[in-house]
Amino acid sequence: MSQMAARYDLRARSYGRCWAPVLAPSALALLEVVEPVVRAAPAARLLDAGTGSGTLAMAATRRWPLVRVIGLDVSAGMLVVARAAADSTLDRAELARLSFVEGSIADPEAAGLEPASIDAAISSFVLQLVPDRAAALSGLRRLLRPGGQLAFVIWAAEGKPWAIQAAFDGALAETLARAGVAAPSPTGGPRAGPIGSASAARAELRAAGFADVEAWERVLHHPFERAAAQALFVEYDRAADLEELAPTVRAAVLAAFDAALDRLPDAAFTWDAPLVAARAVRSPDE
Ligand SMILES: C[S@@+](CC[C@H](N)C(=O)[O-])C[C@H]1O[C@@H](n2cnc3c(N)ncnc32)[C@H](O)[C@@H]1O
Repeated sequence: MSQMAARYDLRARSYGRCWAPVLAPSALALLEVVEPVVRAAPAARLLDAGTGSGTLAMAATRRWPLVRVIGLDVSAGMLVVARAAADSTLDRAELARLSFVEGSIADPEAAGLEPASIDAAISSFVLQLVPDRAAALSGLRRLLRPGGQLAFVIWAAEGKPWAIQAAFDGALAETLARAGVAAPSPTGGPRAGPIGSASAARAELRAAGFADVEAWERVLHHPFERAAAQALFVEYDRAADLEELAPTVRAAVLAAFDAALDRLPDAAFTWDAPLVAARAVRSPDE
């Protein structure tokens, strides 16, 4: 199992509650981008690459009554969450058009996906996580039929809600230093990281062999409730780190984080994160 799969397996249960809703509006905007593909081919095959808890895959299945959707993810734990969400929200006809597959977007053939079998691939907040983005883009291009379309959105800068993250990191570092405990090492393995601008996204897509490339910059605006901000770090983002700590140290970190959140001004709970989104086509002549 890859380090990335292990990382998301651990966080799968809280992902849909703590993080997916923050990302959802920006992810769902990709459906507008590929709408023309579905208008031209109503029974299109659509891939949600790195489906996570299935936000996009389920929305696409509901939005287009003939489209067949595959949600691909490297984390079996995330797929358990996605399947459960689909089972509880989709009807039988919708479920019959949606499948989930475990595997990496860099090697979709190993997951049993046929080259040139997909009309549109969408991917939200995944391409920053892959170790080699050129390999991932190439994997997606191979899956698309000639003329098929890719649309994705990812971060243009690293990090979660910055002031809140700084409050957590400060609380953790101070508490561990006082307790004489070493800081937990980062999990997940190497990753390509954000794409800093629309022009960088266009360059990466062209280098990966895509045609008809467009990219644009957006801002993800999210006003956090205090409790949601706290849960994001305690129950999701840093839950695995916290679990490694002795109960007394863990309790001290939580108390310090709580106090640090209390000191933050209201404005710190509103997050404006820069994003890059793009669309591109597998050349019809390939
Ligand atoms: C931040 S979540 C985004 C999930 C979903 N697209 C959304 O917008 O809510 C990233 C997801 O990408 C998956 N992932 C990371 N690397 C991957 C890869 N190489 N292939 C497939 N999925 C991957 C993770 O397991 C995780 O479920």
